[in-house]
Amino acid sequence: MRTLLVIGIGAGDPRHLTLGAVDALRSADVVITLDKGEQKADLLRARHRVIDTHAPGTPVVTVSDPERDRRPSDYRAEVHRWHGERARRISAAITSATGAEGTVAFLVWGDPALYDSTLRIIDRMQEETGLECMVKVIPGITALQALTAAHTVTANRVGEPIHVTTGRLLPETSPADRRNCFVMLDGGTAWNDVAGPDTYIYWGAYLGTADQVLRAGYVENIGGEIAALKYTLRESHGWIMDTYLLRELDRE
Ligand SMILES: C[S@@+](CC[C@H](N)C(=O)[O-])C[C@H]1O[C@@H](n2cnc3c(N)ncnc32)[C@H](O)[C@@H]1O
Repeated sequence: MRTLLVIGIGAGDPRHLTLGAVDALRSADVVITLDKGEQKADLLRARHRVIDTHAPGTPVVTVSDPERDRRPSDYRAEVHRWHGERARRISAAITSATGAEGTVAFLVWGDPALYDSTLRIIDRMQEETGLECMVKVIPGITALQALTAAHTVTANRVGEPIHVTTGRLLPETSPADRRNCFVMLDGGTAWNDVAGPDTYIYWGAYLGTADQVLRAGYVENIGGEIAALKYTLRESHGWIMDTYLLRELDRE
């Protein structure tokens, strides 16, 4: 049976890979990358840097996502067709790149369990095509860990829970959940929409890379400055990945 390794590669630094991840990558016959249309040249380069650092020469096969009708008359049917076609393409790439006992690696940014669709896509592929594989996950350092480490802060305060959400869902997050709240996938500046006078932000962009930028302070003091900075960084790099921790501080 083929083995599929879903390897967390960390948030941008090739040294984020665990020793287990390096071993797994070195054991792979081929790396398959899913081009979901959102990959920026810098991110593709980062993936290649990981391979060149830890398993140079490993072949890479890129599977592009099929075209999708964004305004179908039957939405469910179109999504079903689209997922099915994607499953067939991945299955075809796996079978043509490896033998029946071969090993395939999928490199996932951060950790495969956090806001990533690779495991769902693989499940779907197995259901749709019947391709039998053994799937193993090798965990990675998430952007959240890269953020807290860079700011030298803990994720939670003593006895308090942590909430993780997206920029889109932040405005409907309850005040209790916003006491220690990590935000990912924020295409805008949602911190400015929810902050009160005691809201503190630990913000980071391009974490783990040579371009890492950090800011920390009360949102009422630096929220606008970070928004302007995010705009400028996105303009100069052509893309941005940022994440942040919002924390309600109990000021006297
Ligand atoms: C699709 S999610 C993937 C998360 C990933 N699986 C993880 O464990 O970190 C992408 C989001 O992760 C965050 N992110 C990932 N890498 C980052 C980095 N190097 N610097 C800042 N944020 C990052 C951003 O919020 C980005 O919008």
